[in-house]
Amino acid sequence: MYAQLWCLCLVAATAFAADQPVDDCVLTGGDKKSAAEQALLQRLAPLKTKKFEATIQEGDDSYKYTFVVCGRVNASTSPNAGLVQSKVGSTEVTVIGRIDDTHILNGTDWIMLFYKSGDKYDNHCDHEPRKAMIMISCNKNTLGDGFTIINEERNKSKDCFYLFEMDSSLACPAEESHLSVGSILLIVFAVILAVYIIGGFLYQRFVVGAKGIEQFPNITFWQEFGNLVADGCDFACRSRPRSSETAYRGVGDDQLGEEPEERDDHLLPM
Ligand SMILES: *[C@@H]1O[C@H](CO)[C@@H](O)[C@H](O)[C@H]1NC(C)=O
Ligand SMILES: *[C@@H]1O[C@H](CO)[C@@H](O)[C@H](O)[C@H]1NC(C)=O
Repeated sequence: MYAQLWCLCLVAATAFAADQPVDDCVLTGGDKKSAAEQALLQRLAPLKTKKFEATIQEGDDSYKYTFVVCGRVNASTSPNAGLVQSKVGSTEVTVIGRIDDTHILNGTDWIMLFYKSGDKYDNHCDHEPRKAMIMISCNKNTLGDGFTIINEERNKSKDCFYLFEMDSSLACPAEESHLSVGSILLIVFAVILAVYIIGGFLYQRFVVGAKGIEQFPNITFWQEFGNLVADGCDFACRSRPRSSETAYRGVGDDQLGEEPEERDDHLLPM
C-alpha cells in the first residue's frame, strides 16, 4: 500500500519535473548522460541563447523559423521551445522542437543538433510530435550564420522532421599548431635580430649621434667579425691555396712590397 503510494508520488514528481521550464539544453536518454554529448553541448556554449531566423515563402504565406541555441524562443508563450515556426502576419505559432528533449552528435567538421517533443502534427505523420534537426557545418569565418531551412519532411507515416542548416566555427575540428619547434625558434631569432638592429640603430642615431654607416649597432665589431668570417671561409672553402701575402693583403700595406715576384710563381705552368 505504502509502496504504491510512494510510486504514485514518484510518477507525479517526474511528470511535474518534465513540465518545468529549463534554461538550457537537456539531453535525452534517461538519467545516465553521455559524456560525449555533454562535451559537444559544452562546445556549443559560445552560441548559447543566440537567436537565428529564417523566412520562407510557401504559396501565399510566408513562415518565419526562429532558432535559439539551448535557450527559449519566448519564455512567456511556450516554455522550452527552442525552435518555432510563426506565420508572418498572424499569431499562429507552432513549436517545432523543445530544448528539454535535445540530442546532439558530431563528425569531423559538423555537429547535428536535434530538438524533439515539438507540437503534434494535426494531420500528418500519425500525429507524432514535431522534431527539428539542425546541421551545423564548419565555417572558420563565423561564430554562427546562414541559418536556413532545407526542408520539411512530413510525407510519411512516422519519423517526420524539419531539417535546417547553419555555419559555425564551433563545428570545425580542433586545429593543431602548424608551427614546428624549429620554425618557432627561427621566428624568435628573427624578432630578436630585428629588435637588435632597429633598437641599435635608434640608439646610435639619437643617443650617440652617429651618421651614415656608423648608425649600424656595434659596427666595428661586425666589420671585424665579417673579416674573421671571410678569413675562415678563405681557409676552409678555397680549393687552391693562396699565398699568405694575398690572403692578408688588406691587413698591412707594409707586407705588400716584400716578395711580389714569389706570389705568382706557383701559377706558372710547370
Ligand atoms: C512572446 O510572446 C508574447 C505573446 O505572444 C509576445 O507579446 C512577445 O512579444 C513575445 N516575446 C518575444 C521576445 O518574442
Ligand atoms: C566530436 O566532438 C568531440 C568533442 O568535442 C571530439 O572530441 C571528437 O573528436 C569529435 N568527433 C569527430 C569525429 O571529430
